[in-house]
Amino acid sequence: MIYRTLGKTGAKVSVVGVGTWQFGGEWGIDFEQKTVDDIFRTAKECGINLIDTAECYGDHLSESLIGNAIAGDRDDWFLATKFGHHFCENFERTEPRTAADIVKQLEDSLRALKTDVIDLYQYHSWGDDEVFADDVQAVLLKAKDQGKVRFLGNSVRSKGDATNQVSRCSEHSMDALQIVYNRLRREPEETAFEICQQQNIGVLARVPLASGYLSGKYKPGHRFDGNEVRGKWHDNEQRDAWLAEVELIRKDEVPDGFNMAQWAIAWCLRHPAVTCVIPGVKNTDQVRSNAAAVELMN
Ligand SMILES: NC(=O)c1ccc[n+]([C@@H]2O[C@H](COP(=O)([O-])OP(=O)(O)OC[C@H]3O[C@@H](n4cnc5c(N)ncnc54)[C@H](OP(=O)(O)O)[C@@H]3O)[C@@H](O)[C@H]2O)c1
Repeated sequence: MIYRTLGKTGAKVSVVGVGTWQFGGEWGIDFEQKTVDDIFRTAKECGINLIDTAECYGDHLSESLIGNAIAGDRDDWFLATKFGHHFCENFERTEPRTAADIVKQLEDSLRALKTDVIDLYQYHSWGDDEVFADDVQAVLLKAKDQGKVRFLGNSVRSKGDATNQVSRCSEHSMDALQIVYNRLRREPEETAFEICQQQNIGVLARVPLASGYLSGKYKPGHRFDGNEVRGKWHDNEQRDAWLAEVELIRKDEVPDGFNMAQWAIAWCLRHPAVTCVIPGVKNTDQVRSNAAAVELMN
């Protein structure tokens, strides 16, 4: 494994982390505790120390599975979670975002994660007009003072221009940015990365496999069940266009014999602004494969 410093936090994190939206049930699988235990045992064996989760991957369900899995070695992990959504059934979420809501969510996350402190507490896809609300900021800074949160971060929305929020990170005590970045989605190269480098903001590149499409295992015309996020949220036409682009990338850019998912992860890590990637995983084989992508970095 390779480790980098996550911006101003000073924390040394593995360049490949574990993304855990999958554990919440929206990817068509209900996870058993044993599967999650195995995933983190394997991740640790591979040298991974960074976990990204959220309050709304299930109703604190992903957090709870992680909390159980790492209860015995909590201090060995850099644990990132988020706030600002509430999971409901059938892929629906509400957006509790008052200061009182955040106080409650933080306590719920600490309880689910079975920890006294969250390493990185991230705004979860908030809008430009709400993200810098003074009363929410006050609650977060108090949580830092109380030792319940070590660092604040901003996980910006996947659509729209992130420039405004990114440029104001430091001013609002945010030490890390989480943003969609992959071979199909290169906007941060224009909107975010230079600012992050100037302000020494650590970058967690999320969705590095373009929701698994950059693994190369799906072909145009592939259809997912409506009980998983790619079937529910991704438009067939858009997906087919992405998958056609993936085919071209594989032909033109991926060296013969390379595992495309590993290539896609190493591709993200080549940008100097990117601290780490957080591919979502479903099993131990994916953890091992993703960790081994560091061998393709040069
Ligand atoms: N707003 C936010 O803050 C936000 C939004 C989205 C995601 N996130 C975070 O970012 C993480 C990553 O994003 P994501 O999970 O949506 O997308 P992703 O990492 O691009 O793709 C994950 C999917 O890729 C496939 N995969 C993973 N490793 C693989 C491997 N080695 N070989 C082949 N296929 C592999 C798996 O699906 P299949 O095997 O079924 O193909 C997995 O479910 C999330 O888990 C979450 O922690 C945050």
